[in-house]
Amino acid sequence: TPAVVLMSGRGSNLDAIVRAAIPGLDIRAVISNRPDAGGLALARDHGLHAEVVDASGFATREAFDAALDRAVDAFSPRLVVLAGFMRILAADFVRKHAGRMLNIHPSLLPSFTGLATHRRAIEAGVRLHGATVHFVTPELDAGPIVIQAAVPVLPDDDESTLAARVLAQEHRIYPQAVRWFVAGRLSLQDGRVCLNGAT
Ligand code: GRF
Repeated sequence: TPAVVLMSGRGSNLDAIVRAAIPGLDIRAVISNRPDAGGLALARDHGLHAEVVDASGFATREAFDAALDRAVDAFSPRLVVLAGFMRILAADFVRKHAGRMLNIHPSLLPSFTGLATHRRAIEAGVRLHGATVHFVTPELDAGPIVIQAAVPVLPDDDESTLAARVLAQEHRIYPQAVRWFVAGRLSLQDGRVCLNGAT
C-alpha cells in the first residue's frame, strides 16, 4: 500500500508507525508544512523520502493547498496518514482521499475536538481521557472512529504528564489502525467504519 505521511512536528507517531514494520506498508513520502519539523530528520534517518511544502512560502491558503495537493498526488498514495499535521485541509483534498485518509487526535472524540486537549481534559475534571484514530472528513476532528485508547487522568496530573500517557497509547493504536487498513480489513462504507467485514 503506497502511503504518504503528513506531519508538522516531532514525528513520534510517524516513528511508531515505521517501527511497527507493517507488512505491505510502503511509505513513499513524508511531507511537512514546516521546514523545522523534527520529524523530517527522523524520516530521513529511517531512509524515507521527506519533503517540505512550506506554508510561509505561499501568499494564499489556496496556493498552499494546491501545492500540497500536487506534492501528495506525485506519490499516488492509497493511504494518507496525518501524524500531527497542524493545518486544516481543503475540503476537496479531503474528499479526494475519502476513505483513505486517517488522523490521530489526542482525545476521546467527540470530546475535546480542537487544540489543547490535555489542558481542557484536566480543567473539565474528566477521569478518562485518551486518543482517537479516525477517518478524515471535511468536518474537523469529527470523522468515523476507527480505534480509541483510554487512559486515566490522575489527581496529580498536569498537561505534560497526561500528554505523555496519551502519547504512549497513540503509538500503540495508530500503527494498529494502519496495519488493519494495509491488510484490507478496514474501510469506510457509506460513512461507517467497516472492520473485518463488520460495520
Ligand atoms: C500528537 O499528540 C497527536 O495526537 C496530535 O499531534 C501530536 C503529534 O505528535 N495530532 P507527533 O508529531 O506524532 O509526535
